[in-house]
Amino acid sequence: MGSISTAGEAVARIAYLSSDVVVSVQPSLASDSEYSSCLHALGKDKGESLVAKAQPEVTPVRQNADPLLSVFQSVRAGKLTSVTATSSILVKSIPHLYKLAQYPVVIHVSVQPTGFPDFSDITSIRQCGFTFLQSETLQQSQDIALTAHALAIKTGKGVIHFFDSGAIAMSKHISHEDKDLVKRVLDLDAAAAIQHTKSEEKTLYADDGRTATLSVARSQATATKGAPAAPITSPPTPGPDRLSTRASSSGSSHRESSTASGQSVSSATTVESLASKPVSSDDIYRFATQIWASIKEATGRSYDAFEYTGPANAEAAIFLFGADTAIFAGEIDTADESEAYTKAGVITARLYRPWLGASLAPQLPQTIRKIAVLEQVRRKTTKWGPLLMDLLMSLKSSGGASPTVVGYQLGYISDKTVQQALRGVFQNLLSESPVQNLQIGNLEGPSADEKPAKLQQPALENAYMKVLDQVFGDRLHIANQLHSENTGISNEISSSPEYGFGSLLARKEHRLRFVDEVRTASKSKDFVTNAPLEWLSKWAIDAENGDKANSLAPEVISRLSTDGSSAAGKLLSSKQLFFRESPWLIGSDAWAYDLGNSGVHHVLASGENINMLIVDSTPYSERAAADAARRKKDIGLYAMNFGNAYVSSVAVYSSYTQVLEAMIEADKFDGPSVVLAYLPYEKENDTPLTVLQETKKAVDLGYWPLYRWDPRGDEKGEPNFQLDSERIKKELEEFLRRDNYMSQVMKRHPEFSANLSGSYGTEVRQLQKRKAKDAYGKLLDGLAGDPMTVLFASDNGNAENLAKRLANRGKARGLKTMCIAMDDYPLEDFANEQNIVMITSTAGQGEFPQNGRTFWEAVRDSTDLDLATVNFAVFALGDSHYWPRKEDKIYYNKPGKDLHTRLITLGGTALTDCGLGDDQDPDAYQTGYAEWEPMLWQALGVDKVEGLPDEPPPITNEDIKIASNFLRGTIEEGLQDTSTGAIAASDQQLTKFHGTYMQDDRDLRDERKAQGLEPAYSFMIRCRLPGGVATPSQWLQMDAISTNLGNETMKLTTRQTFQFHGVVKGKLKPAMQAINKALMTTIAACGDINRNVMCSSLPQHSQYHSEVHAVSKRISDHLLPSTTAYHEIWLEDDETKEKRKVAGDAIVDHEPLYGPTYLPRKFKITIAIPPHNDTDVYAHDVGLIAIKGADGHLEGFNVLAGGGMGVTHNNKKTYPRTGSMFGYVPVDKAHLACEKIMLVQRDNGDRKNRKHARLKYTIDDMGVDVFRGTVEELLGFKFEEPKAFQFESNIDTFGWQKDENELNHFTFFIENGRIEDTADFPMKTGLIEIAKFCRDNGNNKAEFRLTGNQHLILSNVASDVLPQVKDLMQKYKLDATNFSGLRLSSSACVAFPTCGLAMAESERYLPELITKLEGTIEEAGLRQDSIVMRMTGCPNGCARPWLAEVAFVGKAYGAYNMYLGGGYHGNRLNKLYRSSIKEDEILDIMKPLIKQYAQERQQGERFGDFVIRAGYIKETTHGTNFHENTAEVESDEE
Ligand SMILES: Cc1cc2nc3c(=O)[nH]c(=O)nc-3n(C[C@H](O)[C@H](O)[C@H](O)COP(=O)(O)O)c2cc1C
Ligand code: SF4
Repeated sequence: MGSISTAGEAVARIAYLSSDVVVSVQPSLASDSEYSSCLHALGKDKGESLVAKAQPEVTPVRQNADPLLSVFQSVRAGKLTSVTATSSILVKSIPHLYKLAQYPVVIHVSVQPTGFPDFSDITSIRQCGFTFLQSETLQQSQDIALTAHALAIKTGKGVIHFFDSGAIAMSKHISHEDKDLVKRVLDLDAAAAIQHTKSEEKTLYADDGRTATLSVARSQATATKGAPAAPITSPPTPGPDRLSTRASSSGSSHRESSTASGQSVSSATTVESLASKPVSSDDIYRFATQIWASIKEATGRSYDAFEYTGPANAEAAIFLFGADTAIFAGEIDTADESEAYTKAGVITARLYRPWLGASLAPQLPQTIRKIAVLEQVRRKTTKWGPLLMDLLMSLKSSGGASPTVVGYQLGYISDKTVQQALRGVFQNLLSESPVQNLQIGNLEGPSADEKPAKLQQPALENAYMKVLDQVFGDRLHIANQLHSENTGISNEISSSPEYGFGSLLARKEHRLRFVDEVRTASKSKDFVTNAPLEWLSKWAIDAENGDKANSLAPEVISRLSTDGSSAAGKLLSSKQLFFRESPWLIGSDAWAYDLGNSGVHHVLASGENINMLIVDSTPYSERAAADAARRKKDIGLYAMNFGNAYVSSVAVYSSYTQVLEAMIEADKFDGPSVVLAYLPYEKENDTPLTVLQETKKAVDLGYWPLYRWDPRGDEKGEPNFQLDSERIKKELEEFLRRDNYMSQVMKRHPEFSANLSGSYGTEVRQLQKRKAKDAYGKLLDGLAGDPMTVLFASDNGNAENLAKRLANRGKARGLKTMCIAMDDYPLEDFANEQNIVMITSTAGQGEFPQNGRTFWEAVRDSTDLDLATVNFAVFALGDSHYWPRKEDKIYYNKPGKDLHTRLITLGGTALTDCGLGDDQDPDAYQTGYAEWEPMLWQALGVDKVEGLPDEPPPITNEDIKIASNFLRGTIEEGLQDTSTGAIAASDQQLTKFHGTYMQDDRDLRDERKAQGLEPAYSFMIRCRLPGGVATPSQWLQMDAISTNLGNETMKLTTRQTFQFHGVVKGKLKPAMQAINKALMTTIAACGDINRNVMCSSLPQHSQYHSEVHAVSKRISDHLLPSTTAYHEIWLEDDETKEKRKVAGDAIVDHEPLYGPTYLPRKFKITIAIPPHNDTDVYAHDVGLIAIKGADGHLEGFNVLAGGGMGVTHNNKKTYPRTGSMFGYVPVDKAHLACEKIMLVQRDNGDRKNRKHARLKYTIDDMGVDVFRGTVEELLGFKFEEPKAFQFESNIDTFGWQKDENELNHFTFFIENGRIEDTADFPMKTGLIEIAKFCRDNGNNKAEFRLTGNQHLILSNVASDVLPQVKDLMQKYKLDATNFSGLRLSSSACVAFPTCGLAMAESERYLPELITKLEGTIEEAGLRQDSIVMRMTGCPNGCARPWLAEVAFVGKAYGAYNMYLGGGYHGNRLNKLYRSSIKEDEILDIMKPLIKQYAQERQQGERFGDFVIRAGYIKETTHGTNFHENTAEVESDEE
């Protein structure tokens, strides 16, 4: 038996005996490695491999030539392959390692540099999926090498065996392992099975989705953990699941997963079949133990996953990793009794990965209280060493009082310095509060004059920067170098990447020029010698390939240096450019808050090959508490949606190896890359355990998933998405599902994809447009007839519906038609169309609608579009009076007209004149269309077709209501569909009845569309709160809902209730439940039904108020719908629902008041208490005026009916109306009167035309008397003569008031009802404090009353707590009421960004406009005077503009119609004064008018009355003359 003296020799021999192929990695083919001479010698002697039964193939490869690449071919051919290498190849090979981990390949690694090796090369790759074994002595290197091969064969998984050959060189010689033992241990049957399977060959790089598996009896595949399965070894099979092929990233958390199956263990099967399961950590440990048992039996040498040596009662131990164990053990064993470490134990890891932390504790004496972890990791990139982290986690999770673990970074230690080193270690370890992270020994490695080992405090954490440095070394270029010690943990680093971006672009161009220069030079005759030419051209070919360019660079430079020519000198002057840098921008998560502007967007949009590293340092717990996720945008998703970027999400304390892999991939990716890196820090001195636990929580719970996304993965045959952790968060799942769903749908229904693509990356969108259209084309090829492509551009559906109808009609006439939005049309097809028809409406001021803008710009700007063979026709929809001034006539149908002209210019042939639809025509645009369509059919030669089918009538709201099964529709299904933030169109109508409707953030529409994303959908929720009265607790609950589930603000509405905005679909149900939990509801807060019942807030008379308020509640309850759908959809527990639903379909709802179609239109009831008309009693379908009896109590009501605000611009058939007086009813009949009015409207309202469906039109159509008569018939009694009453105003009285019971009431001025905190006005917080105070201080009578003017009253404050309340109000500046009378009397609706109907700004603009008028108001001495000014974003009229003395109603962005002359107490409608005017015109009109009013008004004369007297406007006496005698003289000339 021979003898062995080096680890290289021992390992090489075992590898030779155990492999079919040995890949021998060598510094160069000419120079030997520490293994290669032994391999040669064995080859020369014709030694046979025990597994190959022949001489194994030994393949030498160069260390720099991507050595592991050559492994794939042989492993896939079923050859048992091993690699002999040094650690220097590992980090660069990470992408290969991940894949090779699923093959039985063994890599023997001698850790470098010899003398003082750096084990970070091992720790860096610890999560790549390989099993890791370590040996420390010569004997171990042989035994463990054998273990490695045997384990690889048993498990089918890769094994890395690593060792420090320098330290081992000191060991005594050993003898050859006995060949019989090797044979026995290797399991040759299992080896043969592997040799008989070949993987399907794909491309060399392809991830074949393989997972190493074991075959087990099926019952055992599902056995619970702990019950050992008897494995029947079989070769690994390709795994079924592409997403989860990764091996464990953190041993412990993964070990359970192999048994996670839902099948029952006891399922009785008589015939056992085989099943396969992925190899688990437990399996690996079990096999290793078996192997070690065999070795022990034969040799007496024993091994275990962890090995402990030392006394059984040791109190302290050192855990050594990478250190020369012999030196430490020697010193401890021989130490003097006086040394603190004399009785210390020594722990080492034999099986380093999987990390079987749980098996460590049982091995250690229970007496151990303290463990020092000494890690020889020279390149320390993370603050805490990897082993320290492993240990902390496993001791912590093993429960009980775990020992204190203290980490040290170990430098070079020799037998001369070990004593001092150990003293230092133990002095710290045994102290009361040991310091973490001290450094000991000489970190520079062995040096001539050996300094004594010393302890040092390390610098701050900057892990990711160091990792970048580790991966790219000299190639690394950080463009926005921050010179900051703590990059990555400071939130303050918000420095924009734009700064670095610019410099990177310049740098890139500079280098491109240089590459050109080199290329030219390589063909020139300017050099003295020939050598540069060859090297330069070689280099030029690989100039963009980082690794290759950089390995060639020194060679090129040396050739140039020896050449001496001036040409060489010139190139040498920029010699750094021969190296290809890896360009990085570093930033913090602060960038996420403003993605559009942060520069991230710029980099992504540029498509440049630039890498971004973005470090997120918010701890999971903190973040979860603050729910910041809503505000902080997901950069990863944003980038993925972009479609052209590499994206990965990493966490250095979860999987270090994955960080490296992501960085390597990002660098390789030719385009923008984003690496999102997690490093949670609360404070700089967080303990390692905190950081580790925060990371673990975030990763395990899926909040911070680890993944890598390569949009071009499929080009390489790899999946685009690789999930490297267990869970992903919802949004990401949605993205992937959509991605997956899209490709599925594309395959099955290519014609749909154009619509679907709205939610997908832009690049993909292009591709889809193409595919969809081609597929459609094919589909049509079989059909007869000429083609007709119909394109539309439409904002609100008119043009779109017309286009679709046209396409259907064309089909009926035998044409091959298709119809899509202009922006979805692939423009490159235009020139090949035969017939193309375009229908566009007009938006803004003569602009294209949103979904036609891109198309138009392309057509307008195109220089090479040749339409010589194209026939086209255009129909335009517009409104000739939208911009009434003469000079604005050009905007009438401008897009259609422009398009028509442009197409002619491009050579197209017009089939008809440009058709013009005009909202002013009797049938609106239909009038013009009816003339135009026949001309089109004629031009196409299909005008004489007979037997055309009937067209199906369009679906109306009435159809939707009937089909909805009492308001259910498919709302529930829609809520469950997480692939979109939206719900179905018909459900959007139905959810209104439930108090919520879908909106989208209109500020973001353009940007999202450009990115190919669907609009930012969210929901508005409105509560039902009769009379607007809430308790302090309810206020707090509402506030919490807005903060946690909405957009952090609340709107107090013009109808006295709470409204939440920005509630995303997933939070809709929780929000509804929270509202109901607060004892409020949202049912029937919107929709064609009776809505919230209002009531004056009347602070001065509490008793009287409560009597009237009770009536508002009674009416509200009386008119509630009785469908159970609301409860079923929103309030039931998802789990218990299952049971109830068994009979679900059998439940038939009954609506005694409403019937299945509810009302024709919305229905609003309000109560006003004279002299306050703060609820605008004239503006609602039913208005009740409270009448006080002589006894001071409520006696009854005067009833008004037929008020209403909604109007359509320029449609004179629509008008606002004040209610007509029906007469008086006593209190107990009020709810019945309301009911009967509602019923008459239910049965007589117009259900065909929603613009004519409100009660006001029904009453005018029937006549007031007839209508009232019908109501009286139903009531069975007549309305009495109205009682006398007097209103004084319709605004609120601000400040403190006292009521008859000495209780105090304060009316806050809440501008436009928006409750929010701003930097200088923490109103929301202040109101929370006040509500809490009232709730907690026995002031439980206090109420929060919402007013109809969108303000708030704090009611019923007892005098004894008044000072405290006042203090709070002062603290939060809530006591300010000293605003101008104009501002106090103003009111605006929501409008942009959430209201879908808004044409102009309102809530965000009115305060500004008022500021611009206040100067004039002051000058005129009108500061204290109230002028009622209202603004809405559209003529729907939510802020009741038609009753204001002066009103502005949105017409288009920045433009308003101006109305004058409303009655001061809401009694008279105003009238149009000017159309479509902008701010400067508004100010030009208002300023002199205000001055004139101040000068010329009569005693007590109100502004609204003055403008009529002064002749500015005629008085409107009834809704039906609202449109008459307007002030504007319109010009009809074209
Ligand atoms: C905000 C807004 C601005 C408009 N601007 C114009 C205009 O400048 N010129 C015009 O002719 N019509 C204009 N119109 C009228 C529309 O083009 C017309 O109502 C059309 O039928 C709407 O079609 P759609 O539903 O397909 O968007 C405008 C309408 C709106 C709502
Ligand atoms: S008035 Fe128009 S813009 Fe304003 S909130 Fe109502 S619907 Fe929206």
